[in-house]
Amino acid sequence: MAIKNETILAIDFGTSHSLVGALQNGVRKEALAIDPSGEDPSLMRTLLYFPNSDICFYGAEAISKYLENDMEGRLFRSFKSHLPNANYLGTALDNRRLSLETMVGLFLLEIRKRAEKILGTTITKAVIGKPARYSMDEVADEFALHRMKKAAEYAGFTEVRFVPEPLAAALDFRRDIKEDKTILIGDFGGGTSDFTIMKISKNAFEKSDVLAVDGCPLAGDALDSVFMSSRLNRSFGAQTQYRMPLSNNLLKMPASVMDRLNKPSQIVHLKERDTYQFIKEVQKCALKDEDKDSIERLFVMIEDQQIFQFFEEIEQTKKALSKKSTAKFKFSYPDLETEDIFSMVEFEVWSDKIKTDIFAALDRCFVQAKLSEQQIDYVFLTGGTAHVPFIQKEFERRFGREKLQTKNFFHSILSGLIEGAKSWNEFTEPSN
Ligand SMILES: Nc1ncnc2c1ncn2[C@@H]1O[C@H](COP(=O)(O)OP(=O)(O)OP(=O)(O)O)[C@@H](O)[C@H]1O
Ligand SMILES: [Mg+2]
Repeated sequence: MAIKNETILAIDFGTSHSLVGALQNGVRKEALAIDPSGEDPSLMRTLLYFPNSDICFYGAEAISKYLENDMEGRLFRSFKSHLPNANYLGTALDNRRLSLETMVGLFLLEIRKRAEKILGTTITKAVIGKPARYSMDEVADEFALHRMKKAAEYAGFTEVRFVPEPLAAALDFRRDIKEDKTILIGDFGGGTSDFTIMKISKNAFEKSDVLAVDGCPLAGDALDSVFMSSRLNRSFGAQTQYRMPLSNNLLKMPASVMDRLNKPSQIVHLKERDTYQFIKEVQKCALKDEDKDSIERLFVMIEDQQIFQFFEEIEQTKKALSKKSTAKFKFSYPDLETEDIFSMVEFEVWSDKIKTDIFAALDRCFVQAKLSEQQIDYVFLTGGTAHVPFIQKEFERRFGREKLQTKNFFHSILSGLIEGAKSWNEFTEPSN
């Protein structure tokens, strides 16, 4: 059990949003107003903005300062997704190297400072959520957790427990259910889709209640990407064919370069010198004038730092498709004007591979739990991406509508992490 006279912070560090609560002297403190300038002060966007290497802004203020400064400096989003990637060491800011651990650490430190101010005490203990899997590769997965531990240390937490995010959601749901049941939890966030199968009863939580945890590093960001990779990137040179001087080989714009445009977590790297120079070469050698023009648009996008805003519009379009069968995409920045209509049907077709990979993780979870789908009493869905109709439809198909519960799309994990703080000793994974 947690000790009475102390404060344990509960942090749902999400790819797109982060939330913070606490267990203070044994009492639950629900979502704190951690980002007063945000639309919903309890949801802090997981963003860092450096106008220069000496100053950093966080959350809603990161966006407002970024816009105020005419998109000068560097804005980082979805950096949680880089954690399992050993090739991603961080970035250079002016002449300073900024490691990924420090980026995450700075964000957690800001959260800690804001929470300390709200709760009126110093805090060194934290329960932090982690995806079921940062990566499908076990070594990469361990590496990501190691980096998170370093980041938490940087933020001044001396004792940390990591609780899988879908398990946290389960700990929340079990508060409402008093009889013995077997439940499945699906958490669909920005970076990862996570599943837990567990038994619940009115007895205190025990680790052995968890029958299986699995997941996959694809979720809302990957769904945003399909709008770019399946259609919108064509007006930025994705289909350019070119021939280098003195060569007969017909070449195509490499997928590895376009990936940097297609993926929200990669977009900051389009500006890197090698990539930038390479695209310049492709433009020079493009066979068609219209492709040269498209690449020119790509340069406007990069130089005027419009990619973040462009993806904000994509996300709005995607969210609109959760409510209606078609949605408009409109981007009005000079020289980048784009208008398009997207349909739910094409969105679903484009996302087929992602959906298959996500549900393969669910299948693995059942194998691990040695259960069949019929043995599940309730299915709980949470996370922003659980709104997507084809995700919900698949659950209905597998489990039937009557077993499906959707609750509190954004707060269940945090609420479960606060429960997790009560069972501090059950989570034996120490911080080092
Ligand atoms: N109505 C909606 N329809 C479709 N997608 C939505 C909707 N609302 C939010 N999303 C998506 O949900 C994602 C954010 O969800 P959430 O806040 O649960 O993720 P996160 O906790 O930040 O990420 P993770 O848990 O993967 O680290 C974003 O990709 C967002 O676009
Ligand atoms: Mg989440």
